Amino acid sequence: MCGIVAYVGNKDICPLLLEGLKRLEYRGYDSAGLCVGTKAGFYVKRAAGRISVLEAAIDDKMHGDKALVGNIGMAHTRWATHGPPTECNAHPHMDDQQRVALVHNGIIENFASLKQFLTEKGHHFSSETDTEVLAVLIGHFYQGDLAKAVQLALREVRGTYGLAAMAVSEPDTLVVARRGSPLIIGVGKDEYIVASDAAAIVEHTTQVVYLNDNEMAVIRPGGFKTMTTDDIPVTKAINEVEFSLQQIELGGYEHFMLKEIFEQPEAIANCLRGRVDLHEGRVVLGGIGAYSRDVVRARRIIITACGTAWHAGLVGEFLFEDLAKIPTEVEYASEFRYRNPIIEEGTMVLAISQSGETADTLAALREAKDRGALSLGIVNAVGSTIARETDAGIYLHVGPEIGVASTKAFCGQIVVESLLALSIARRKYMSQNVLNEFLQAIIKIPDQMRKVLEQSSSIRDVTAQYIHRENWLFLGRGYNYPVALEGALKLKEISYIHAEGLPAAEMKHGPIALINPGMPVVFVATRGSQYEKLLGNIQEVKARGGKIIAVASEGDDYIHRVADHVFTVPETIEPLQPLLTVLPLQLLAYHAAVLRNCNVDKPRNLAKSVTVE
Ligand code: G6P
Repeated sequence: MCGIVAYVGNKDICPLLLEGLKRLEYRGYDSAGLCVGTKAGFYVKRAAGRISVLEAAIDDKMHGDKALVGNIGMAHTRWATHGPPTECNAHPHMDDQQRVALVHNGIIENFASLKQFLTEKGHHFSSETDTEVLAVLIGHFYQGDLAKAVQLALREVRGTYGLAAMAVSEPDTLVVARRGSPLIIGVGKDEYIVASDAAAIVEHTTQVVYLNDNEMAVIRPGGFKTMTTDDIPVTKAINEVEFSLQQIELGGYEHFMLKEIFEQPEAIANCLRGRVDLHEGRVVLGGIGAYSRDVVRARRIIITACGTAWHAGLVGEFLFEDLAKIPTEVEYASEFRYRNPIIEEGTMVLAISQSGETADTLAALREAKDRGALSLGIVNAVGSTIARETDAGIYLHVGPEIGVASTKAFCGQIVVESLLALSIARRKYMSQNVLNEFLQAIIKIPDQMRKVLEQSSSIRDVTAQYIHRENWLFLGRGYNYPVALEGALKLKEISYIHAEGLPAAEMKHGPIALINPGMPVVFVATRGSQYEKLLGNIQEVKARGGKIIAVASEGDDYIHRVADHVFTVPETIEPLQPLLTVLPLQLLAYHAAVLRNCNVDKPRNLAKSVTVE
């Protein structure tokens, strides 16, 4: 989704801003632009399409006062909401008097009434965006003090923003502010890099300040001041970003998604590190800390999330009910927040999010907190908004995820849910022996994942046979039912093939009508409590000419007789099977996208982190 990079310092600013934008490309966007303060005023350039188009449009032959060397500038990638992705709608937007420039993430909800007000005051507009309305509003209030004008404008605004603003007559000042859309200030040596995502900062510095909602900063070459948008000074702590530049580069892989699929053994080992004490036979979850008693006493769990994280939540529902014996519901965050949900005493809400910034998940979390729920975060991005707003939480520690299609975060989320369920279970009903058995199984997972990933080329060959089929079904039961949903989502997201994921038994209540000769149907068919029933479902598809692609347990000879293609996973206990069975489905989706020449890491219309409703 939209991205912001802004800079105050003395480096060559244009390449720096463009490089920063490229680091944010993975989040999804459809146009881009930048504004550099030069001696002769602002240089603003915008372009529809990729950053390379913007780069090509930039006139680097400018000399003298207009030379593109400045010590202040800002850039933006836009993901269209109000108005199509054209040059005119791209950011930065100037006010109608060309005094103030603005880049903005989020949505100005009352933009229509503000536009009417400003029009009546004689202002005019040249784009369809809500952002231009805010730029004009800031211009309307501007009387030589940009920070003041931003504050006055934000008082009138309903909605969300992460923004950066510059004024022609204050060439050494950058003003940034946030509400509901992340903004981070990187603090380097004699330089400041503001970005909506730490990925654009880490090559310059790992020291950062996270702005909270309703906070802003005024940044100048010599330093910066932070305050609320009501102008009350706030002192901010400087934090250390945990990941390195190397982690957000391709490292020899063709795509981030492939890199992240293959990183999973290591990522899961990192997620488990220090949390499984085999010697003492216990689970150690430092992030729960002071809340551990309340967590154990929880009488009901509500998991709220979106997309892949929601699928991980569905696995969590099995884990918390099966192991910890706590009634659990999984809610789409976008529905939960508007449904007048019932939160009784003893309700614990788990917000699951890779980015920690998903607008709906954040809103659902706030709704639950307002109603008195204990809130826990299962988040990957350290220091993200959800991580900071939950009472307690457990980080995934799987490293930054760049590919838009989430892979390693899904497995990390399941591992964390398992550990949480186990730590509750052990303090209630679970015997030490059962816990030990579980822990022995979980620490084997990274090596077992490696074995599954070795099948990548045969998965590619099978996928190639069905690559022209436009409809796929993914079916599973029990713990593997959410995996079927996730397999279908992966295929849709990056190869644009229509796929449906279902609990296998539901197929006969409608979707079976879709099956025609040659239709690929993927069964997650590992041995477990529902294996026999699943074999029945396979026969139902075969009888109608469907082609069976099975993900099955190693050593299961029978499945080879009924399935057209088989990918195997090593034996593990049933609750942990999703960590292995999802891998062939991730690879299947990846290979399908490559075979169809799709842009794997930047699929059309999608955003890595959806920070608008
Ligand atoms: C977007 C992404 C999905 C992701 C979902 C939730 O839709 O494209 O891959 O699963 O958001 O994101 P989160 O960061 O909250 O896990």
